[in-house]
Amino acid sequence: MGFNIAIDGPAGAGKSTIAKLAAKELGFIYIDTGAMYRTIALYLIREHVDCEDEQALSDALRSIEVEISYTDGVQQLILNGENVTDLIRTEEVSQMASISSAKPQVRQKLLQLQRTAAEKYDVIMDGRDIGTVILPDAQLKIYLTASIEERARRRYMEMQEKGIECDLHEIEADIAERDERDMNREVSPLKQAEDAVLIDSSHMTITDVCEKICELARNAGA
Ligand code: DC
Repeated sequence: MGFNIAIDGPAGAGKSTIAKLAAKELGFIYIDTGAMYRTIALYLIREHVDCEDEQALSDALRSIEVEISYTDGVQQLILNGENVTDLIRTEEVSQMASISSAKPQVRQKLLQLQRTAAEKYDVIMDGRDIGTVILPDAQLKIYLTASIEERARRRYMEMQEKGIECDLHEIEADIAERDERDMNREVSPLKQAEDAVLIDSSHMTITDVCEKICELARNAGA
């Protein structure tokens, strides 16, 4: 087994930005598991699959092959041979990923892909159930959070910078809806693992959080 760092937390806490930076600093591979759920969600949207129809969902999952690869250290998501990395960041995909990831078949489909990657390499993996379900023996577990207002503000700034029209209150409502669903689902809900270190990034810079995680990792033997 490689050295495994699990980072869990709610949408918009900065997990991916920070995990990417920390991975670079430590020489680890960064694995974004949310992107895998987003890839499945994209397929379900494209094929108009009703997630509440168990049979339809199972049939669809049998037709889906998700693979990850790396280009210049950046994770690429491959859906049935098509690189969909740039297509999975829309609000529509975010909401569908949150809905479909509550389904046990969907989680089952991705479990092995995530575990296999962590067996082979030193990884920082981020998601919702990494420390609790996927990598219970990870050498370091982080639960990264921030206030809902701060998470919405960051997302708003990000969209503004990209020149995308958006409304702060709508973003806050979308994040609250996703939190509610991700934290209260029956299978693998988002929660802090007992042995995870809690980091609230509301009043911390990206660099501060990254340094803190790297320090914890080094102390744990990375
Ligand atoms: O981290 P993200 O916003 O890209 O994740 C998209 C959705 O996928 C999120 O609403 C919850 C789900 N997800 C999950 O259930 N388990 C994970 N390990 C990662 C993401």
